[in-house]
Amino acid sequence: MALLDIRTIPDQVLRELAKPIDNITGEIVRLSEDMIETMIGARGAGLAANQIGLPIRLIAIDASLNPKEKSHIILINPVIVETQLEENGEEGCLSVPGYYEFVKRAKKVHAMGIDLKGNTVEFECEGQLARAMQHEIDHLNGVLFIDLLSPLKKNLFKKKITKKDK
Ligand code: NI
Repeated sequence: MALLDIRTIPDQVLRELAKPIDNITGEIVRLSEDMIETMIGARGAGLAANQIGLPIRLIAIDASLNPKEKSHIILINPVIVETQLEENGEEGCLSVPGYYEFVKRAKKVHAMGIDLKGNTVEFECEGQLARAMQHEIDHLNGVLFIDLLSPLKKNLFKKKITKKDK
C-alpha cells in the first residue's frame, strides 16, 4: 500500500473528464487500495482518481458517513440515477485545501456503479454520504465544489486564493 500525492488547484488534471474503466485489472485493485489509504491518511470523506492524477472513473468514499454501510466504498464508473430534495451543507475538498463553504446538493441520491469484483452495486444515499457521492462523481467530470458557489462567494474565493499567492 502506498500514500498517493493529492493534486490541488490549479492542477489541470482536476478539470479533465475522466474516462470509463473497461477492465478491472490488478493495477486498478491496487490503485483502489492506495486511494482508500490516501483518503484515510488525509482525513478525507472521499477521493476521486483525478485527485491523484489519473483521469479515470474511480472513486473511494468513506461509507462510515452512513452508519448502515461498511467502512469504505470503491465505485468504478459511478453514476447517479436519481436525486431527491435539496439541502445546504458545508463542504471541503482535499484538492482545495483550507477552504470550506456551504453548497446546495440533492439530499438523497440513488447511485450505481461497479465494485472491484465486477458486480453492479447500488447505493441509496442520504445526508453526508449523498453529499460525498455527488462531490466525488463531480470530480470525474472535472467539476469542483467551488464551481457550485454563488457568484458572490466565487469572487470571495478568488480573492482569497490571489491573496494566498502573493
Ligand atoms: Ni473533493
